Amino acid sequence: MEQIKVMTVCGTRPEAIKLAPVIKKLEQEAKIKSILTVTGQHRQLLDQVLALFELEPDYDLAVMKEEQSLSGLTARILTKLDQILSQEEPDLVLVHGDTTTTFVASLTAFYHQLKVGHVEAGLRTYDKYAPYPEEMNRHLTGVLADFHFAPTVKSRANLVAENIVEEQIFVTGNTVIDALLETVNPEYQFTNQQLRKLDFSKRVLLFTCHRRENFGQPMVDIFKAIRRVVEQNSEVEVVFPVHLNPEVKGLAADILEDVERIHLIGPLDYQPFVNLMARSYLIVTDSGGIQEEAPSLNKPVLVLREVTERQEAVETGAIKLIGTASEQIINQINQLLTDQQQYHQMAQAKNPYGDGQASQRIVRKILDLFVN
Ligand code: UD1
Ligand code: UDP
Repeated sequence: MEQIKVMTVCGTRPEAIKLAPVIKKLEQEAKIKSILTVTGQHRQLLDQVLALFELEPDYDLAVMKEEQSLSGLTARILTKLDQILSQEEPDLVLVHGDTTTTFVASLTAFYHQLKVGHVEAGLRTYDKYAPYPEEMNRHLTGVLADFHFAPTVKSRANLVAENIVEEQIFVTGNTVIDALLETVNPEYQFTNQQLRKLDFSKRVLLFTCHRRENFGQPMVDIFKAIRRVVEQNSEVEVVFPVHLNPEVKGLAADILEDVERIHLIGPLDYQPFVNLMARSYLIVTDSGGIQEEAPSLNKPVLVLREVTERQEAVETGAIKLIGTASEQIINQINQLLTDQQQYHQMAQAKNPYGDGQASQRIVRKILDLFVN
């Protein structure tokens, strides 16, 4: 039987999490030959996700270096992927989101005149440097892509406003909900000793921070605010799974190490992480994906950014933008610790990111486009 060849390319933790359910579905289709290429932009964080979802790459470009620069990373992905695309010549190259891997894989595919499908297309802040470099990465990927799998009608509207041909945009929901529903489990038992000992009847605040535009003073201000909240509230326990980026690790050690009731732990595997989200009282983060997952778990999110591309969740009230100024962060967290009405309004807000069927819609659409 004639098969179409779909090469999925991913490199970081969030891309792998959000593409895992799509890759599983591609693998189940007899009419599709699914090839997985990982750039290895994230070495350890990526490998955790591949192991959890039992994904075995056909190609691994192993590009990560300590404290890698954006230009160095771009050059390594471009040259290494070039050879693989020459060899495989897939019918479709599938990318996800807004990382350097996403943009460079799309560019390399374009140089080979191959079709590009973009999953999680159309997210925008329209602020070139926030988030940086992701806003530009997803714009550029949108320009290069042939098929746009938009998670929401809002992301579709962004693409239409940019003159993307409407027939090439498909609203599917976000595949992160597929991954989340498959992974969250009330019976799950933590293996991490600090998490096992944690009393979840207390106010457990889950905190993550890793964005490049927050490096330097904003991150110092954020970390100081978290410390102050813990000093002011004796019932609060903070769990901070620290990203492996040396910029983040260094500051976290300087400002938050050895503070009572602040648990600095390494990045968690996806399974313990989502189950920790589900059991926390409140989430404070600058992450993109967490803004989409938390509303499905009925957890309020305070977002440490000036702008967000997850405007749908702001509109339903599930998340709130609070910026990076210390005073504002302290006030907003304290408000959610005391004002139960506001807390419940945020917690009960509707999840705008889909029903867990996004990957199925994407794979059906690929079959429609290439086979039927
Ligand atoms: C990257 C993405 C960002 C995404 C984030 C998700 C780019 C430019 N940035 O940011 O969009 O939100 O991933 O987490 O694509 N490191 C390790 N091991 C790992 C991962 C990272 O040691 O498994 C360290 C390395 O020193 C590496 C550094 O972190 O050089 C930065 O990694 P990089 O992928 O460039 O940027 P992130 O900040 O992780
Ligand atoms: N995540 C994880 N372990 C952690 C922190 C986050 O598995 O210690 C998951 C989280 O549930 C989400 C994804 O990683 O699905 C988000 O990744 P990240 O915040 O690194 O990137 P972003 O979404 O901001 O690009």
